[in-house]
Amino acid sequence: MCLLLAQIHLSAQPSKHTQKVEALLAKMTLEEKIGQMTLYTTDWGSTGPTIREGYRTDIRSGACGALFNSHTTAFTRELQRIAVEESRLKIPLLFGYDVIHGYKTIFPIPLGEAASWDPAAAETSARVAAVEASASGLHWTFAPMCDVSRDPRWGRVMEGAGEDTYLGSRFAEARVRGFQGRGLGNTDAMIACVKHFAGYGAPMGGRDYNTVDMSERYFRDFYLPPYEAAVRAGAATVMTSFNDYDGMPASGNKHLLTDILRKEWGFTGFVVTDYTSINEMVNHGVAADDKAAGELAANAGVDMDMQGAVYQRFLAQSVRDGKVPVSQIDDAVRRILTLKMDMGLFEDPYKFCDPEREKRVILSADHRAKARDVARKSVVLLKNEGQTLPLNTKAKIALIGPLGDNQSELIGAWSGSGSGNDCISLLQGLTNAGGNVTFSKGCNVEGDDRSGFDAAVALARQSDVIVLAIGEMAWMSGEAASRADINLPGVQEELARALKATGKPMVVVLMNGRPLTIPWLAENASSILEAWWLGTETGNALADILYGAYNPSGKLPMTFPRSVGQVPVFYNEKSTGRPYDPNSKWTSKYIDSPNAPLYAFGYGLSYTTFSYGDPVVDKKAFSNGEKITLRVRLTNTGKYEGEETVQLYIRDLVASSTRPVKELKGFQKIRLKPGESRDVSFEIGENDLKFYRRDMTYGTEPGDFDLMVGGSSDQVKTIRVQLKP
Ligand code: NOJ
Repeated sequence: MCLLLAQIHLSAQPSKHTQKVEALLAKMTLEEKIGQMTLYTTDWGSTGPTIREGYRTDIRSGACGALFNSHTTAFTRELQRIAVEESRLKIPLLFGYDVIHGYKTIFPIPLGEAASWDPAAAETSARVAAVEASASGLHWTFAPMCDVSRDPRWGRVMEGAGEDTYLGSRFAEARVRGFQGRGLGNTDAMIACVKHFAGYGAPMGGRDYNTVDMSERYFRDFYLPPYEAAVRAGAATVMTSFNDYDGMPASGNKHLLTDILRKEWGFTGFVVTDYTSINEMVNHGVAADDKAAGELAANAGVDMDMQGAVYQRFLAQSVRDGKVPVSQIDDAVRRILTLKMDMGLFEDPYKFCDPEREKRVILSADHRAKARDVARKSVVLLKNEGQTLPLNTKAKIALIGPLGDNQSELIGAWSGSGSGNDCISLLQGLTNAGGNVTFSKGCNVEGDDRSGFDAAVALARQSDVIVLAIGEMAWMSGEAASRADINLPGVQEELARALKATGKPMVVVLMNGRPLTIPWLAENASSILEAWWLGTETGNALADILYGAYNPSGKLPMTFPRSVGQVPVFYNEKSTGRPYDPNSKWTSKYIDSPNAPLYAFGYGLSYTTFSYGDPVVDKKAFSNGEKITLRVRLTNTGKYEGEETVQLYIRDLVASSTRPVKELKGFQKIRLKPGESRDVSFEIGENDLKFYRRDMTYGTEPGDFDLMVGGSSDQVKTIRVQLKP
């Protein structure tokens, strides 16, 4: 069966606004239509290489229908007033912004939230973000980022859910639900934007904006599902990515934007480009000039041009030249106007401009409490030798490190209009918890200044335990922040070595936006907490964990390599014809490094310990349409109450195309008291076994499957089942 026919086609529901939209469309000049397809940044802030003045004139003349990087009720009201009072057709503006992990109350970076393995936590985070941002005049967030990425050199891994397709899909849909809330049109709902469509997370060499190329089979199996999950969750807009895919930049890629997005997935919202990505098709070398690039984009299915001014300058001429059918323009404008109507902007363009609400909801106690809770859930305990953690509040702590008394970096990259001043530093958090703590910085994150080492070492000597807060500066991850080396920057590791020499127990708290290569710490620290950038409530959340008020339960959403030379290293690799065998030279491996990463996907400890029984199934063989139930007994074998994330993986042993050695297909978070046991069960059906078969149809193939269950991708117990022919 042909691929397209094999997909479910969701036909567009006729909108309740159809008549109004058509009536308005009939009044619009071609230029006014193109104005609705034009999005500009204001001069409030820049999130790209160009700024554009004159947007007020454009609003007035109907040449610009949407703005971004403008927020607060006061500013958006001022601009909205120009649109609805001074432009000919009085069409309200749409205001967009990158509200990625919080607006003012900043939550953990999305990679950190993914470490919670708790999509409901990400939904809460997105909900709070939407409540605050919508109270500050905003309608539209450029999130969620649904880019699967297996390359920690790529700085934007901080903005996604990590390396896995299944986990990424669950987080993508949760974030859409959170942003869009009870539905567009409610004053606290924001339009979600699925980005960056598609494949942006797989740039060659991990270098931002670089080329993406892979087979369509691989693309569909591993990279597309999170975008699709977000679209199916109802996201009303999609953003194209900067990269090319299969020789065509996403903004000119009709296969992606029309065949897959609209025809296969039934997407009915509008597509916006990323920042000047239409213009960039000239640099990509697929268009001779901006005008030709605009034609490629419009014909591929791009409805709105972000910041490039290509549509504004050339699209009308392209229509007159017969290069772009006017029906293409009309369809784009219909989608955009429909969404503006869905938001209720035609009834009340100032609906999101209530300064009283803005004041009341932003940074409210409730939002801070939620941020603290999600922050605690996002922390991963990587090591805890001799149960160094949790600490006693009486313990004399030497808090050391450039991030120990820092506020500005804790909100991480892409932190909306958040401010470090609102952040609880680690020092503050420990002090709030009644801790006995003295601080010494030791060194900076960057640079080679070692002048603070002696004081830090002296402090450590007088203390019971060292808490060392190190990592990256916020600017070191995020957009345009790829790193060729993912070690701890500067002399931070050297500081750790000097502290280690004191013989005191050393608890390392890492604050960073990506997996780092930390083999020395893994070997030498007593305990390691991966704390990412946790946001506004960082210090309180970490104090809860360090003193044991909260038992860490995070699991890694992305593999930690031993060295950058292993990258990309990820759990769901394929077997190869010569799978790794340490005893045979002629197998797939390195001569200077193990294949295994430092910390595997799904790994994370707790203050307690868990044991898994052998998995059992209710039947050994099943058919399509039936379900099999796997059960495993989980026991808390330690001294603390705690939560374990039980993970289910599958492997298709023989298939018409090569399949990964493991694929995540389910997970559950289970809380148990010390000594308590529970049977955890998973249902597995044909949907969990589907893939793109040799002929590119999507479905199952009969045969044997391994079902694997455990607390980390590298620690599983296996049972074999059969899908009957
Ligand atoms: C470029 C980024 O790639 C994208 O994620 C963001 O939404 C836009 N700039 C707008 O700021």
